Amino acid sequence: MKIWLDTAIIEEIQEAVSWGVVDGVTTNPTLMYRAGVRDFRSHILRIVDIVQGPVSAEVISTDAAGMIREAEEILSWSEHVVVKIPTTTEGLKAMKVIANWPNGRINATLIFSVNQALLAAKAGATYVSPFIGRVDDAGLEGMDIIRETMGVFNNYDIRAQIVTSSVRHPRHVAEAAKIGAHIVTMPFKVLAAMVKSPFTDVGLQRFLDDWAKVEAQWATEPAR
Ligand code: E4P
Repeated sequence: MKIWLDTAIIEEIQEAVSWGVVDGVTTNPTLMYRAGVRDFRSHILRIVDIVQGPVSAEVISTDAAGMIREAEEILSWSEHVVVKIPTTTEGLKAMKVIANWPNGRINATLIFSVNQALLAAKAGATYVSPFIGRVDDAGLEGMDIIRETMGVFNNYDIRAQIVTSSVRHPRHVAEAAKIGAHIVTMPFKVLAAMVKSPFTDVGLQRFLDDWAKVEAQWATEPAR
């Protein structure tokens, strides 16, 4: 399973990439705002430079012609850039056109049902992104969309990759991995929480304490 970071904050991306576990990055207008981004293109290219993998950058047009115009520009920035298109009827029209370009890498975003995922894949999306956390927030079971979409894509040998999105906690990641989702995109804090275990901390402290005792013995007794 690929791990993508869902952030536009450079320091978070640099730190997580240094752990050797990050395969890509997703951004959206909200994340760009939170990161205080001034220049869209140069910020995306900075991220590409750090991660050297797929980096999603979202259009803001709501009509197909505008999305296509923006996609042409965004996709020209780097071979690693993927254009994020909202899964609306206008978005589907845009996906159909963009998918036919040699560099037409599309992440179909704002997916909240298996049907939207199916339509986006049929329109030519490379990636489909169900937002499971927002579905959970509404009192429903977001992970069901991942499970159902995996089943449907397997039924018909659909090649689009499922990006488990709107991830809120490490349990989401483990569940998505068990289902076999191709990718999970997650905030930095979720990735950091995946590494953490109090047992690891306690276990490490015990090893360090015992090693200090070994060294103390060496200082007082001849080596055995
Ligand atoms: C995915 O690509 C989106 O950027 C993201 O997961 C949105 O999730 P949110 O519900 O945390 O805003």
